Amino acid sequence: MTTTLIDHIGLLYTGDPEREEIADAALVLEDGLVAWAGPAGAAPDADERMDAGGRAVIPGFVDSHAHLIFAGDRTAEFQARMSGEPYTGGGIRTTVAATREAGDAELATHALSLVNEMLAQGTTTVEIKSGYGLSAEDERRSLEIATALTDETTFLGAHVVPAGVDTDSYVRLVAGEMLQECAPFAKWVDVFCERGAFDGDQTREILTAGQKAGLGVRVHANQLTEGPGVRIACELGAASADHCTHLTAADVDALASSETVATLLPGAEFSTRSPYPDARRLIDAGATVALATDCNPGSSFTSSMAFCVALAVREMRMTPLEAIRAATYGGARALRRTDVGWLRRGARADLVVLDAPSYVHLAYRPGVPLVHQVFQGGLLL
Ligand code: NIG
Ligand code: FE
Repeated sequence: MTTTLIDHIGLLYTGDPEREEIADAALVLEDGLVAWAGPAGAAPDADERMDAGGRAVIPGFVDSHAHLIFAGDRTAEFQARMSGEPYTGGGIRTTVAATREAGDAELATHALSLVNEMLAQGTTTVEIKSGYGLSAEDERRSLEIATALTDETTFLGAHVVPAGVDTDSYVRLVAGEMLQECAPFAKWVDVFCERGAFDGDQTREILTAGQKAGLGVRVHANQLTEGPGVRIACELGAASADHCTHLTAADVDALASSETVATLLPGAEFSTRSPYPDARRLIDAGATVALATDCNPGSSFTSSMAFCVALAVREMRMTPLEAIRAATYGGARALRRTDVGWLRRGARADLVVLDAPSYVHLAYRPGVPLVHQVFQGGLLL
């Protein structure tokens, strides 16, 4: 097998807690994996050599929360919000109507263009949710389309109750027939636990049915109001509780003392002009934090992890190191993955060469395209 040495890395952020940052570093890639990471002076020989020219290298971003299977446009809703309207989640039904109208090819082409947009910005692993179909058939086809794009697919039939349907019978449908149709195409089950969406009992019922069908759990929790979402996520051993914007002290304790990652989605607060989650409180309490885009047409139509890193630093008082960690290692923890999110021997060779001397520039130079090269599975894209 050919080995490739990436030499003259100004600063390597490895994502490996044992050795997070290495100045004047090098990497050796072999067979799609990282074979070696360390100081340039100690690098082993390789068949090929690439000079990073003093640039920084980071692991590919792990975007652990995105809603990419949809059609339609909600520009008008965004404009109304920027004129003072609040975000309620009600616009989800607008996207559901457009998604149901769209053919499979249209949905697939659109989702692929978003994944490519993400890749170009350094995201090499992305989770994709259903949730804009809300019928057994439309949720199944959404997930089938998603499986062509990622291994990390999430069944979100419980996004909202569709218009004209009674809540109890919808919960029965989601936890029953819809789940059975969708489970073969999903790795995870998710519920939007929120006032106006699904309450604690309904959330627990759907998530435990998903677990019985072999799916891992993630929860849209405590986004718009305090509620039982985070508690239920921790109780059920969810991989991740997402949003975590309105937390009680008990919620923070539950996250800090569990394996459930607190996934923060600052693009949503930015685009809904809402207060940001208290990242400091979570980190200082000892919770594992991830950052993700929440890319969706309503509350956060960004595909940029770098933008989320910049928001996390400026608006949520995370240090640049905490933010890059949350966008790589944290995202991998939120998906229970050990093969991505860090650059150490044996990990997938997913990495980004930045047009900057340090990952700090992701926050220091917000909005500037700093991606020089992206490698996915050892291949230069
Ligand atoms: O994560 N909160 C629920 N779901 C999405 C928003 C979906 C939409 O508005 O279309 C979220 O923010
Ligand atoms: Fe979401």
